[in-house]
Amino acid sequence: MDHFLYRDGALYAEDVAIADIAAAVGTPFYVYSTATLKRHFTLFDEALDWGEHLVCFAMKSLSNQAVIKLLGDAGAGMDVVSAGEYLRAKAAGVPGERIVFSGVGKTADEMRIAIEGGIRQFNVESEPEMIVLDQVAQSLGAVIPITVRVNPDVDAKTHAKIATGKSENKFGIPISRARDVYALAANMPGLKVIGIDVHIGSQLTELAPFEAAYNKVAELTEQLRADGHEISRLDLGGGLGIPYARSNEAPPLPTDYGALIQRTVGHLGCEIEIEPGRLISGNAGLMVSKVIYVKSGEDREFLILDGAMNDLIRPAMYEAWHDIVPVVESAPGVAPATYDIVGPICESGDTFAKHRDMPAVKADDLVAFRSAGAYGAVMSSEYNSRPMIPEVLVDGDQFAVIRPRPTYEEMIARDTLPPWLD
Ligand code: LLP
Repeated sequence: MDHFLYRDGALYAEDVAIADIAAAVGTPFYVYSTATLKRHFTLFDEALDWGEHLVCFAMKSLSNQAVIKLLGDAGAGMDVVSAGEYLRAKAAGVPGERIVFSGVGKTADEMRIAIEGGIRQFNVESEPEMIVLDQVAQSLGAVIPITVRVNPDVDAKTHAKIATGKSENKFGIPISRARDVYALAANMPGLKVIGIDVHIGSQLTELAPFEAAYNKVAELTEQLRADGHEISRLDLGGGLGIPYARSNEAPPLPTDYGALIQRTVGHLGCEIEIEPGRLISGNAGLMVSKVIYVKSGEDREFLILDGAMNDLIRPAMYEAWHDIVPVVESAPGVAPATYDIVGPICESGDTFAKHRDMPAVKADDLVAFRSAGAYGAVMSSEYNSRPMIPEVLVDGDQFAVIRPRPTYEEMIARDTLPPWLD
């Protein structure tokens, strides 16, 4: 569910007409709904109400300061994967004790920044990382709470580029070696083992892979406790999917997911952490774009938009589907059309959809990409020297630009000439 609905034929973000935002900020742009962001966070929070828990928003999905601030104020923790994300969380006022540091390649510098600023835990992904973290912690006179991320060798049944829980993936340590790795960690004076971490992939549309992974985590918890480790916290990762094609997809809801967690690991008495990104931010955002031309090819019509793969890379990178809808519904009686929907970038990969049936539109009409809040703005670039598109936040009847569009001059001024060319 989201808060992007039509009123009298015009698409709104909460109580603001999308066309009004377009008139104020120009196109393309991202727009986020405060109500949807808060609602999705609350759904997860309530789904884990049966026990002690913390919902840590995966900042990689959407890391604008305004979004982090509003979720942090609502009580969310943050899952970060770089010093940059860590510092963004801190800058938005999220306390260190609510920030979890994940990621397969943390550097010593990143570890230092997070330890000095305060951190809830590190999710460690390998023995070499553990050794470096121990050294950094000791050099700072700290003892750092850690979980070890285990790779349960479970097929997440999602796109290959976003599956992480199979033994062929680079993530975590094989669950079969977990007891040895925990024994190693227990002997490191800079580290304090507190739990287990697992994350098997993203955009999962069934509960079965989570169930398989969480059962393995439950079993490992018992084994590690028998080995003498304190396992009091389970970080169960993110990954719950969202309906991208609303007409035919109905992935499980956070309530089903919370009940599954209770069923698989609830008896262990651990504090539960989860790291959802997409389900909180995905359907809380649209990318709005304008039709530049409608062009007739040999056997098809091309809808050429002012948004492109540099603004929203998911279709080019993962063959991802986004519903694309007109911002003003067509008048009754206008025949639907079929388009290849593309951007202006000079490569054929700059295609958002092929043979897409949608209401007919014409040059200068606005269209909205649904479910673009997650992995949209954060993955954008300035390829083809197209300035990064702005982000806008709506709350009720108010809206504000939360990242402005740079001017061409600002974009160019980021480069500097070496002295010999000046
Ligand atoms: N925790 C860890 C350790 C992760 O690696 C991820 C996502 C998450 C949590 C959040 O997963 P979510 O709840 O958002 O599914 N760019 C891709 C998605 C990459 C996901 C990477 N890891 C896309 O656009 O589909």
